[in-house]
Amino acid sequence: MSSENLKKYIVHPGGVIQGEFRVPGDKSISHRSIMLGSLAEGITEVTGFLEGEDALATLAAFRAMGVTITGPDKGKVTIHGVGMHGLKAPSNALDLGNSGTSMRLLSGLLAGQGFDLELKGDKSLSSRPMKRVTDPLALMGATIATTDGKPPLNIKNVSALKGIHYDLPMASAQVKSCLLLAGMYADGVTSVTEPAPTRDHTERMLRGMGYRVDTNGNTISLNGGGKLTATAIDVPADISSATFFLVGAAIAPGSDLTLKHVGINPTRVGVINILRLMGADISLLNERETGGEPVADIHIKYVPLKGIHIPEDQVALAIDEFPALFIAAACADGQTILTGAEELRVKESDRIQVMADGLMTLGIDAKPTADGIVIEGGVIGSGEVDSHGDHRIAMSFAIAGLQAGGSIQINDCANVATSFPGFITLATQAGLNIEEIDE
Ligand code: S3P
Repeated sequence: MSSENLKKYIVHPGGVIQGEFRVPGDKSISHRSIMLGSLAEGITEVTGFLEGEDALATLAAFRAMGVTITGPDKGKVTIHGVGMHGLKAPSNALDLGNSGTSMRLLSGLLAGQGFDLELKGDKSLSSRPMKRVTDPLALMGATIATTDGKPPLNIKNVSALKGIHYDLPMASAQVKSCLLLAGMYADGVTSVTEPAPTRDHTERMLRGMGYRVDTNGNTISLNGGGKLTATAIDVPADISSATFFLVGAAIAPGSDLTLKHVGINPTRVGVINILRLMGADISLLNERETGGEPVADIHIKYVPLKGIHIPEDQVALAIDEFPALFIAAACADGQTILTGAEELRVKESDRIQVMADGLMTLGIDAKPTADGIVIEGGVIGSGEVDSHGDHRIAMSFAIAGLQAGGSIQINDCANVATSFPGFITLATQAGLNIEEIDE
């Protein structure tokens, strides 16, 4: 294990969240900008790109496949697209680090390229389920070997892919996107029906680059054999990163915060809807659209929260925000119940169990269930919690410090850099009393 992995945070109690600032770029959109920009004809200029390890892993993968990419430099990236058939076989396995999005989307994008390659990742990624992508890709004619359904993925050259219809067994934007990206290289129509709407950044960016994608209710389809045309992509701030400060402001009396230029795509705003149901005072200012994605400045002022039964139709729309929402629930008056969220068990960590363990260490009554959790609002104490290398768990417990009775030590925090470079600096500016310790 490198010393990097031993980073820990110590957050001291108290503080309010105040100010007006912008959090780093959207991770999902940053990944897709590199993928589609690389396959486009022409030069794609990206601004607001997330310079976090996950998006950089995608960028490095495309460089390894022969794409000339300059930057990132203060969020600017220039991609010299090679066209739909211009990628070259990489000379080594592509190492995607901690990034499930890179691996799942690339498995589809690369299944029909006409060369062999291997996709691998770190310890956490190597334990995540990949059959959800390799099973439907096999139906399309792809040949991808796994180790018991886990990475590494060994993709073998196949002569052709064929379009299929696939009913997604779980609400997953990664699986949906994987199949649509493979579908661009398949004969005929590829269509996917999702059980609940999931983030639609792939569909939006494909359309923005001139590729026809049809959405009919919960079914999304495209025809193979099209092409992409380069365009400018302005990546908004990531609502998933904004969440830590929204929850911070929602639990710390006296807080008053504005977050600038945040993506408020309707498939991502579950956190706003859920916090509002808990009583939070949130307003959206300057609503506008940039590059096919809605954005706004988000203003939040502290008011006391109450526990709720989270509506299941919000689960997919807030899927990455639950660790932070569990901290909001711990500070709310009464009980919060989450159901229908079994997907949380197969994220960068088992986010139900890991959050329940940490909350219980801090004196909060949190009962994990098969598909969710029941949290009794209470008083957060102090103690030592383990993030299990999960960036969002680490940042959620950092925010909990605002309402804690004493210091909280959070172990295994290096992976915060996968999605939120500069978190400690921004969190300190915003009002958190937090230190980072390298061991
Ligand atoms: C993502 C989809 C979600 C999300 C992940 C990013 C994407 O995963 O949790 O952080 O960019 O498509 P699932 O598709 O597994 O829900």
